[in-house]
Amino acid sequence: MTTLGAAPPLEQLDSGERLSREELLDLQLERLRWSLHHAYTNVAHYRRAFEVAGVTPGECRTLADLARFPFTTKLDLRDNYPFGMFAVPRPDVRRIHASSGTTGRPTVVGYTQGDLDTWADLMARSIRAAGGRPGDIVHVAYGYGLFTGGLGAHYGAERLGCTVIPVSGGMTPRQVQLICDFEPSIIMVTPSYMLALIDEFERQGVDPRTSSLRIGIFGAEPWTEAMRAEIEARMDMHAVDIYGLSEVMGPGVSQECVETKDGLHIWEDHFYPEIIDPVSGEVLPNGEIGELVFTSLTKQALPVIRYRTRDLTRLLPGTARPAFRRMEKVTGRSDDMIILRGVNVFPTQLEELVVRTAGLSPHFQLILGREGRLDTLSVRVEARSDCPPERRDPAAEALAREIKDRVGVTVAVEVVDPETLERSVGKLQRVIDRRS
Ligand code: DLL
Repeated sequence: MTTLGAAPPLEQLDSGERLSREELLDLQLERLRWSLHHAYTNVAHYRRAFEVAGVTPGECRTLADLARFPFTTKLDLRDNYPFGMFAVPRPDVRRIHASSGTTGRPTVVGYTQGDLDTWADLMARSIRAAGGRPGDIVHVAYGYGLFTGGLGAHYGAERLGCTVIPVSGGMTPRQVQLICDFEPSIIMVTPSYMLALIDEFERQGVDPRTSSLRIGIFGAEPWTEAMRAEIEARMDMHAVDIYGLSEVMGPGVSQECVETKDGLHIWEDHFYPEIIDPVSGEVLPNGEIGELVFTSLTKQALPVIRYRTRDLTRLLPGTARPAFRRMEKVTGRSDDMIILRGVNVFPTQLEELVVRTAGLSPHFQLILGREGRLDTLSVRVEARSDCPPERRDPAAEALAREIKDRVGVTVAVEVVDPETLERSVGKLQRVIDRRS
C-alpha cells in the first residue's frame, strides 16, 4: 500500500496533544467546572434540570462528581427548538447547523466565533492524525449545508494549511473526473459513498488503485474492519475513521491515527467522555461496552452536559496520542439495533459477513418485514460485476448460512444485479422497515 511519511514529530503536534495524562486530567477538571457553571448560569433548561437533580455546579470537585449531574438527550434539544439551548446572546452565534432527523423538528446547533476556531483546530488535528500535512490537496465530498460534515472538514483542512476542493456530495461521474484532474491525496467522505466512487472509477475504465488518493477519512456512519480492508485493497489507500456528532460539535470529536488504526482518539481536552449502561444510566469502567456520553468542556454557544449519543462503544487507553483515551469503532446505535425473534442484530455485524462472502458486493440493504406476528429480515445484496449468474445462488446460501451460524438469525438473501440498489450520497440508510 501507499507508504506514508513518519508519524508527526512531537514538535508538530499542537499544545493540547503534547499534554501528559496528568496535565490533561487537571485541565479537564478546570474546564468541566467552567462548563457546568456556564450551562447552569445561561441556559434555563440546565438550571431546571440541575435543580430537579438537586445539584449545583459548585458541587463538582472531581471528574467523578460529573456522574451526579443529569443527562441531556436529543429530546431536550428538540423541546427547546430552535435556540433555547444557546448559552450566549443570539447575535454572538456566528453559525447554525442542524441535523435533519427522521421525525419532527431538526436538532439545531450553534457556534460562536470561538467555537468555530476550536472546531477548525480540532479538525486540523484530526486530519494530521489521519496522515494529512500542510500542502496536501483535500477533496471534501461530505455534504455542505446544514449537515456538519462538509463545512467541518473544509475549515479544518484549511486550518492545517491544505488546498481544499469543496465538491460536496453527488454528481458521482464528475467527482471521479475532478479526482483524476486535480490529483488530491486525501478524500473526506462517507464510507458508503466512497464505495460508489470506486465503482464509478471502474465504470469509467480507470483503475482506482492508480489514483492520486493516499488517505480516506471516513465517518458519519458506522463501518467495519471488513469495509476498511475492502476500500484499502480496491483504492490502494489508507482508510481511517473519523467520528463526531452535531450536538457535540460535528466531525472531529475523535479520530483514528493512521500509524496505528486502532480506534479513535477522543480529543479529551475539549470533550469529556463517559460510557454508561443504557438502561440503568450507571457509569461503566473503561473497557466495558455501553452508550457513549459526552460533556463539552470549552463550548460557548451550545454547552452539552452528559449528552447521550446513543452510540455504542467502549473506552480504551491511548496509544499514538498517549494522553487521550480511544473509543473503539462504533458498532452501531442503540436505536439501529434490530431485535429479530429475541436476537439483537446490528447492521454492522451483517456488513462484516456480506463483505467477506465471495461473489457479493458490499452494496446491500436490510429489509424488515412481518409475516403473521413474526418479524422477518431479508438481505438484498448486489452481485459483484465479475460474479457469473450460476454463482449467485451458492453465494446467497453461503451468506445465509454464515448469518445463521455467527449471528444466530435466519434471514432470506436475495442477490440482485450489480448497480441496481440505490447509492447513498451522504449518510447511508441501510435498513428499510416495511413492518407497518
Ligand atoms: O455525522 C458528523 C460527522 C460528519 C462525523 C462527517 C464524521 C464525518 P450527525 O449528522 O449529527 O453528525 O450524526 C451523528 O452519526 O451519533 C453516529 O451515530 C454517527 N456517526 C458519526 N461518525 C461515525 C463514525 C455527523 N465514524 C451520528 N462511525 C453519530 C459510526 C458515526 N457512526
